Formats: sequence, structure tokens, C-alpha cells
Amino acid sequence: MHILENYNLKPHNTFGFSAIAKQYVEISSKQDLLELWQTGAFTNKPYFILGGGSNVLFTKNFDGLVVRMINQGFELLSEDESMATISVAAGENWEDFVDKMVDLSYGGIENLALIPGLCGSSAVQNIGAYGVEICDRLLSVHYFDLETGQFSVIEKEACNYGYRDSIFKHELKNRVIITNVVLQLTKKHQLNTSYGAISNELTRKGIVNPTIYDISELVKEIRQSKLPDVKEIGNGGSFFKNPIVSQEHYNKVKEKFPQLISYPAENNQEKLAAGQLIELCGWKGKQVGNVGVHAKQALILVHFGNGEGKEIVDLSNAIIADVWETFGVKLSPEVIFI
Ligand code: EPU
Repeated sequence: MHILENYNLKPHNTFGFSAIAKQYVEISSKQDLLELWQTGAFTNKPYFILGGGSNVLFTKNFDGLVVRMINQGFELLSEDESMATISVAAGENWEDFVDKMVDLSYGGIENLALIPGLCGSSAVQNIGAYGVEICDRLLSVHYFDLETGQFSVIEKEACNYGYRDSIFKHELKNRVIITNVVLQLTKKHQLNTSYGAISNELTRKGIVNPTIYDISELVKEIRQSKLPDVKEIGNGGSFFKNPIVSQEHYNKVKEKFPQLISYPAENNQEKLAAGQLIELCGWKGKQVGNVGVHAKQALILVHFGNGEGKEIVDLSNAIIADVWETFGVKLSPEVIFI
């Protein structure tokens, strides 16, 4: 374990922005984590726990310690004829993990193929796509408590999971470092093909009895067809959350914009498609300086290179203002600003 000084985080954020961390350390074991804590590294100075950097926007240098868990591996904890319980290290790459599970014929996360990031962050963000959220498959989260210096476990029920939300973004924010995530996967699979894009593709390809492999491949194709590849163009996935509005507000806006797409949300509310709202405001495909709005998916802000995080902040503020003025809907970023 080496603490590096004045370290550029550019390779560790998928937007590809430069930001200098005063200190940077990679942690590959629980022992290292405990040792780091015992040196007082987390006392009286700012620190930030970085995952795969696929959901952060660095707007300036970070005058503190950046910690990245890079522990690897997964373990089969138990199984019967229909289910398998698997613990995965927080530092494992999520995309690779999904592929490995599909190869081993463990199901339940095939709809979450090709989501960039690490397994630990997946439990913070409650990643979701194509009708499945990680909390649907999660049993518990193992973590190190920076306040007490103890390793601990929190069960799924206590994690307060919601749409792109969890206890790790609130009460436990900056207090814990996730070490492992425990998932319950299927051996007798129950496929989720309810999402329009998946069922349409299955019909188009004439696949009647899809396997988990078929679904993961379809999801990859759909994602690749509209989401920019972070290896080619900097971005942080969906920049905003899909906004949830009251029935009353929805009816009012729908009257003016009959083409509005929506999905039922909790408490009789409606979830709108932020991508559509941004597109209707004319932002899709627009470039402003070194940044812009993706041409195939307006929910994704992109960095074309040589830019700064501040440019994305300005662009997102302009979009928020426009959507507010047009629809009376307040967009909130899914991406975390540092
Ligand atoms: N749409 C538009 N214009 C656009 C983009 C989308 O009209 O520019 C419309 C689409 O036609 C569709 C609807 O909006 O009818 C929803 O679009 P899509 O299926 O692409 O999904 P999304 O709501 O834009 C969400 C997640 C994605 C996830 C997909 C698939 C959020 C913030 N984003 O996007 O997650 O992959 O659904 O389930 O919930 C991420 O979080 O980084 C992410 C990529």
C-alpha cells in the first residue's frame, strides 16, 4: 500500500477530466484498509472513496485523500438446486463480473450487463437497467466503518434502497468503505424481458426461449447502439435521474406535450424520461466548447477531450433551467460532483 502525492485522477473517471488529488491510495485487502485507518488517514482531513469513476464529475482538484478499493475475486458462499449465494469483492469490475456469472450460468444480473463501474459502487448507486435493479438481487453489503474502525455487515432491508438511491448516499455517506457485496443469483432462471427494448429485439430476432446469455448479449447490443463507449468518448452514463412528478403535474404537462413518455412510480406518481425532456428542449446532439449532449441519447453529457469539469457543470445548469422553464420539472443530477 503506497500513498501517492499529487496524483492525477484522469485515468480514474470515465469523463476523462484531469483533477489532482493531494493524496491517492489503492487498497487491495481488508488488512490494508485497517492499517490505513490506524495511521489516522481519515481523521481531520477530507477524503473521498472512489469506485470505477463512472458516476463522478471532478470539477476541481481534491485537497485530501482519495481511496480506491481494488480487492478482487468472488466466492460461492452456498447453493441449492435453484439459487446460489455469491460474495464479490468491491474492487471487481462490474461488467466483467456479470460476464463471469453468465458464463458460469448464474442468472439474475444479465440485464445489468455492460454497466461501467465497480461491484462496490453498484450497491451504493443501486444500479439499474432494463427492468432490473441490483437491490432485487442483493442480500447484504460488507463494509469497514470509518467511525468505529470495525468491519460490519448491513442487510438489504436496512439499506433503504430506492431509485438510484441507498443508505450509502445518506446516513452512511463518507462513513463506510464497502469491501464485499453478497448477491443471490439463480440457477433456475427467471428472465426479465418486460422492458420494451428487450422484448422488441427478441421478437425481431425470432428468439422464443432466450437464455441468460442471449439476454446479456441483447442488452449489450442495445447499450452499444445508443450509449457512447467510455473508451472512445468521455461520459458518466445517464447524467440526470428520471424525474418523478405528481399525477396532477403530469396531466398538466401531458396536455401540452401529448407525446410525453412516462412510467408509473410509487405513491401514484409518474416517472418521466429525462432524455425525452432534454431532447424536446432541443439539446440533443448539441456541442458547447469541449462538451455536449450525446446525439443518440440526450440523457448523456459527453466530454470530447481537452475540456474541464466546469464546462459540464455549466452545460448541465443550462439544461436544468431549460427543462424547468418548459415543463416545470426540476432535473437532478445522478452524477456526483466533486
Ligand atoms: N428518450 C428520448 N430521447 C432521448 C433519450 C430517451 O425520447 O434522447 C426516450 C426513449 O425513446 C424511451 C425513454 O426515453 O422511450 C427511455 O429511454 P431509455 O430506454 O434509453 O432509458 P432512460 O430512461 O433514458 C434509464 C437509465 C439507464 C438505463 C436505461 C435502460 C436512468 C437515469 N437511466 O435511461 O441507466 O440503462 O434506463 O433501463 O434511470 C445510467 O444510470 O447511467 C444508465 C445508463
